[in-house]
Amino acid sequence: MTSADNTDPLTTAAGAPVADNQNSLTAGPRGPVLLQDLWLLEKLAHFDREVIPERRMHAKGSGAFGKFTVTHDISRYTKAALFGQVGNECETFVRFSTVAGERGAADAERDIRGFAARFYTTQGNWDLVGNNTPVFFHRDPLKFPDLNRAVKRDPRTNLRDPENNWGFWTNLPESLHQVTIVMSDRGIPKTYRHMHGFGSHTFSLINAASERHWVKFHFRTQQGIENLSDEQATELIGRDRESHHRDLYDAVERGDYPKWTLYVQLMPEADAATYRFHPFDLTKVWSKKDYPLVEVGELELNRNPENYFADVEQAAFTPANLVPGISVSPDKMLQGRLFSYGDAARYRVGVNHHQIPVNYPRAATLVNTYHRDGAMRVDGNQGGVPGVEPNNFGRWTEQPQHAEPASAVGAVADRFDYREDDDNYFEQPGDLFRRMTETQQQALFDNTARAIKGARTETVEKHIANCSRADPAYGTGVRKACEAIGTL
Ligand code: HEM
Repeated sequence: MTSADNTDPLTTAAGAPVADNQNSLTAGPRGPVLLQDLWLLEKLAHFDREVIPERRMHAKGSGAFGKFTVTHDISRYTKAALFGQVGNECETFVRFSTVAGERGAADAERDIRGFAARFYTTQGNWDLVGNNTPVFFHRDPLKFPDLNRAVKRDPRTNLRDPENNWGFWTNLPESLHQVTIVMSDRGIPKTYRHMHGFGSHTFSLINAASERHWVKFHFRTQQGIENLSDEQATELIGRDRESHHRDLYDAVERGDYPKWTLYVQLMPEADAATYRFHPFDLTKVWSKKDYPLVEVGELELNRNPENYFADVEQAAFTPANLVPGISVSPDKMLQGRLFSYGDAARYRVGVNHHQIPVNYPRAATLVNTYHRDGAMRVDGNQGGVPGVEPNNFGRWTEQPQHAEPASAVGAVADRFDYREDDDNYFEQPGDLFRRMTETQQQALFDNTARAIKGARTETVEKHIANCSRADPAYGTGVRKACEAIGTL
């Protein structure tokens, strides 16, 4: 189907003209296809390789670009250039996700939501790879692969399995805080726009005088919190499996740009030793009475990606993307994550995933690393410049001005049982339960009873016992709800 005025001529990947994109080359009108149909071979071969592995967790996601604007001065806590001045702006990219579902899963499922924000700062990419909850299910990264199996499909039935899931959670009583949030009315956000985001971990801020503060990051939605009940979600999924994705895409297209206000909680370094809650335990929050929210800036999402695969699927976030003035903490879970994301990206997207535009720092001059080679190296590979350091040419020089202040760590290496250090798992979920209205508590009971249905009686009893330790009324309520629908 060629035309004389064809202005968009089709070529092969090597640039050769394609004469016919409708009919394969065959031996006779009804004969077999010839191996010399190079265009057919190229097309099929490319198609055969078009899928990259999905993310092991958070496979189903939606993304949008936007901007972050600094509205309040926190430069006395951090030397990060982004926060150097009120009014500073930087481009951002955010990918929202559900966690347990596969790439084609329905959006409106009861699950945590991922909230991964990338700030393209003048000092390189800063990724805050968070969730819509301030805590997590466990405290040791050794358990993360188990969590994945607990919430994913059973190896034999290939079905999600309440016993695999709740058997795991109830044996990790520290998960109750997160489980309470996921089973609460906030467990199914109406859309990605109607939820908060949290960095969740304790990170650190370092200022120009090399003083360290521990910090928690909070994005609070300006759209207001809105959630779906189990019933509403079931009805919605029947009509639209992509409800979150559609909502975000449509909102950005019509210029109704979603916004979040970024806050921090700040803890002076020395307080960590005496704070009444373990400050580096991801199953706990810091009380806002002890460490109030300090406003920092505004995130706005205002541009849909031109191509979903290029930007959203190939996005490779990592908590290890940090910039001077923003750093890590002793949180064990964060330590595990510092390794896992770059490793996953090397497997899922490739060793040179940094070169893909969505992953590349916006100011190209920022990048002067001397990694070499590897699959899909497309940036010239440093040309003829020798990749040797130290050298006599002043190449690849270190930047000691960005060294972090020393930090004190325990001196004895062992596999310490974190339960002996701190087994206070029930106080914060109990507080959360008591802050709920009666209607919210009832929703928590009913959602739990439905979700745990199918687990063994022993597991349901174990969960009720854990809830009762948080608050006797929590346990009683879950028991009654379970009895009402035959879960017990
Ligand atoms: C995705 C590991 C805990 C938030 C992922 C991925 C891995 C991973 C391997 C897929 C990355 C990719 O293929 O690009 C881990 C490990 C954890 C952990 C080992 C604990 C030790 C957490 C926590 C949060 C979180 C505590 C939130 C506070 C996310 C998000 C994504 C993700 C938002 C999706 C990122 C995106 O949109 O591309 N995680 N994770 N994870 N994780 Fe975690």
